Amino acid sequence: MHKVEKLVISPLPKTSFGCSVTLPGYANNDPSNLNDEDFKSLYEAVLTYLVVVIPGQEELAPKSQYILTKRFDPSIPEPKPDSGYAGYGHGKEFRHQQSVLRKDGTSVKSQPQVQILGQGVFEANEPGNENGEAISLTHPSHTSFHHTPLTEDQIKNEHRTRFYRWHIDSALYDLSPPLITTLLGIKVPPSTQTQKIIYEDGSGDELELTQGATCFVSGANAYKNLSLEDKEFAANTIVEYAPHPYIFISPAGATSDGLTMVSESKEFSFDKLPEWEESKVKKLPMLWTNPVTKEQHLQLHGCCLYKLHTKQADGSIKTLELEDARKKAHQLMRPSISPKEVLAHSWKQGDLVLFFNRGVWHSVTGEFKGVAADGKDERRLMHQCNIASGQDPVYVSA
Ligand SMILES: [Fe+2]
Repeated sequence: MHKVEKLVISPLPKTSFGCSVTLPGYANNDPSNLNDEDFKSLYEAVLTYLVVVIPGQEELAPKSQYILTKRFDPSIPEPKPDSGYAGYGHGKEFRHQQSVLRKDGTSVKSQPQVQILGQGVFEANEPGNENGEAISLTHPSHTSFHHTPLTEDQIKNEHRTRFYRWHIDSALYDLSPPLITTLLGIKVPPSTQTQKIIYEDGSGDELELTQGATCFVSGANAYKNLSLEDKEFAANTIVEYAPHPYIFISPAGATSDGLTMVSESKEFSFDKLPEWEESKVKKLPMLWTNPVTKEQHLQLHGCCLYKLHTKQADGSIKTLELEDARKKAHQLMRPSISPKEVLAHSWKQGDLVLFFNRGVWHSVTGEFKGVAADGKDERRLMHQCNIASGQDPVYVSA
């Protein structure tokens, strides 16, 4: 490949956001080696294009991925020695027995902020597994999270899947949402295998995807899609998340579009949750202002939210409680997961995807169990890194 002297940014064709990046020759194919000027270009590309793909990164070391990820956010505190999960965006709670995130991965031993995600058993020293022992990964299928999942026949014979959970990477309790997430595809299924999402809401919407595609929606586009009235609502609303939200929601099931939870009062009562304190409960604006483009992004986590507090014209606060808060979130968000709004990243081996976690929503898709040509499970291995920020996102009114 022709070597370039500076970072080259190429917008993705046919989408309203996303770009691919070619690294300059001096970086030796390692984006953590970028000089300050090229890193600034990369930073601005991630916050402007929201999703950035750097191909050919299958050899990227976990340490480089960590250094690269951390470099985006100077407010990240230095990790405490021996803290194990030092700095990972979900902290220790990621593996809590009752958390809905529990089965989603394991950590790289030498770099615990980097998580290993995927499906299947990977022997010691297979690419992406430097942990010195076999690891077993389980792809987060919607079947374990949605209220009413697809049937086995729909998955295996009709090749259907769902948006697993639209989300922002964040613990949404105590820790601040990471600025960016990096996701590296080390072993991915062939891109010829596709699955389909049928939106089960009477809209007739359908989306054909490469198996295991990661889907993104631009929070800036989502804001622009709102009516004037809803823009006003969003600008004046604070989203309160539940304490330990991923544990709180674990007895409940998600809606079939992965946007929010079905309200059946199944959530844990607060006294059944692990110890928590009011001061660590997250209350975040519904709009987060992009520090580079100054655009407003509609950023809320419809599954983890607890209440919406909206400032009225007379200065009083109107609160929507859990069920109504979910309904409102769904009304605001559903138009922006329509097929034309979704960037479905079709993974190629070696793709490093960097996304502005405070400017997009994303979702896992894909069913991997018993769907390979021989009836076995499809395999995949990825490295993911995001680090809790030192500061919460802010809304700056225009
Ligand atoms: Fe995620």
